Amino acid sequence: MSTKNFDVVVIGGGPGGYIAAIRAAQLGFNTACIDEWKNDKGGPAPGGTCTNVGCIPSKALLQSSEHFEHANHHFADHGITADNIQMDVAKMVARKDAVVKQNNDGILYLLKKNKVTFFHGRGSFVAAKDGGYEIKAGEEVIAAKHVIVATGSNARQLPGAAFDEENILSNDGALRLGAVPKKLGVIGSGVIGLEMGSVWRRLGAEVTVLEGLPTFLAAVDEGVAKEAAKLFKKQGLNIELGVKISEVKTGKKGVSVAYANAKGEAQTLEVDKLIVSIGRVPNTIGLNVDAVGLKLDERGAIVVDEDCKTNLPNVWAVGDVVRGPMLAHKAEEEGVAVAERIAGQHGHVNFNTIPWVIYTSPEIAWVGRTEQQLKADGVAYKAGQFPFLANGRARALGDTNGFVKFLADAKTDEILGVHIIGPMASELISEAVVAMEFKASAEDIARICHAHPSLSESTKEAALAVDKRTLNF
Ligand code: FAD
Ligand code: NAI
Repeated sequence: MSTKNFDVVVIGGGPGGYIAAIRAAQLGFNTACIDEWKNDKGGPAPGGTCTNVGCIPSKALLQSSEHFEHANHHFADHGITADNIQMDVAKMVARKDAVVKQNNDGILYLLKKNKVTFFHGRGSFVAAKDGGYEIKAGEEVIAAKHVIVATGSNARQLPGAAFDEENILSNDGALRLGAVPKKLGVIGSGVIGLEMGSVWRRLGAEVTVLEGLPTFLAAVDEGVAKEAAKLFKKQGLNIELGVKISEVKTGKKGVSVAYANAKGEAQTLEVDKLIVSIGRVPNTIGLNVDAVGLKLDERGAIVVDEDCKTNLPNVWAVGDVVRGPMLAHKAEEEGVAVAERIAGQHGHVNFNTIPWVIYTSPEIAWVGRTEQQLKADGVAYKAGQFPFLANGRARALGDTNGFVKFLADAKTDEILGVHIIGPMASELISEAVVAMEFKASAEDIARICHAHPSLSESTKEAALAVDKRTLNF
């Protein structure tokens, strides 16, 4: 059988990989994408962590659990009474699985539509050959002129507490619990801890989050983090900061976590299930990097320059497996940029305008620098803030927690950061991203006509607040 030759072979079919493959095919390259993720029937399930055990399923369960919370606690405010509200966790999880499958199928369709050859199985380097590379794709060996590695990341394990997905859960197990645990422990109050903690709290679990750092949401703007801590506490999420975990034991009754609290006092937390969400590690398992000498750093990430070039000619790497934030949209942007660079174009990723969103209630979203970063960088800035409490649409929605905050250069008024905690922050942040991408000033946003009544009027008002001239507050 003759070897199949490709211009571009992408290893990994997550958001970094499948998007890179589609863009490469659009640019006229004969492209293959190799992905090993299996669905429960053993079939292909492209989309990576994001589609299978990340972004998509977590948002599906966040939505279901929010409906449940609204039905129980907020419908009455609207004059709607509903008795005997029941929850069917199995059905919620089945709906989540159906949403995942729609996305898996959608990606398979898109690859086909763009004439990308899909291989279901593991991709690994065999050897450098004839100026290109031999790649094992499942059971076949194929040849590539260019290789894009997009093999993603895995959940970091806590030493001495290996994931069993039964009692000690990674994001994977946390997304497919069969019943609501009475008591749920979470180690790490980062993005996964807060999102998954919120899901199971809304469904009735008593949730305790143990965080190693003394500061809550250290990467988030201080004002936003403070507001979030207040609101999450009010919702019943118990968060302990500055802890040091000493031992995790599993038994018939569940999980026991021994730790020292911030004062150094020995404590024990007994829970039915424990989610460990203490960050993720780049994944190069099974890639056989030694066969070609692909360089990794001390964290196990593939070493790349600012253009995603590795130490090997025509080998590129994107997404969670390289430096930078572990976000699906960052992986996608890098995938597109690399395909365009292979085509001789000037692919571009602006790391200063990558938005972050935490899908709690209220949502938290930001782009650019925080107030504490600007202080540390010695930048003179002006701040403007507008509360959703003073926004008509938020009042009509019955969702008035939080605010929009603008940070702009003191001299030039250029927007340096926008920080939102409140309803639909995930959607509102796009305006700020566009503004920053075009180097807009706060006044530019303040002078734009925003629809009334809309949450986005809070963005305009926060921009006006930079110049101390809000109209509705
Ligand atoms: P991945 O999505 O991890 O995909 C890598 C793919 O490569 C996988 O399919 C894997 O099976 C495959 N693979 C690995 N090695 C091989 C091999 N040797 N051969 C063949 N295939 C291989 N980000 C956001 O932006 N928004 C969110 O809301 C969000 N929510 C998240 C929620 C959770 C619970 C988690 C865990 C993550 C979340 N993320 C979110 C992060 C996001 O999922 C990742 O940043 C994103 O998936 C990275 O994309 P990637 O393509 O680099 O890697
Ligand atoms: P994270 O980096 O967001 O948070 C990990 C937290 O665990 C930190 O607060 C850290 O201080 C703490 N921690 C680390 N070691 C600890 C220890 N031994 N004991 C106690 N606390 C400890 O990581 P997380 O939540 O696991 O998520 C991984 C990544 O996945 C995120 O950084 C993000 O890139 C991505 N993600 C993005 C989402 C989104 O965009 N909405 C949602 C979920 C995940």
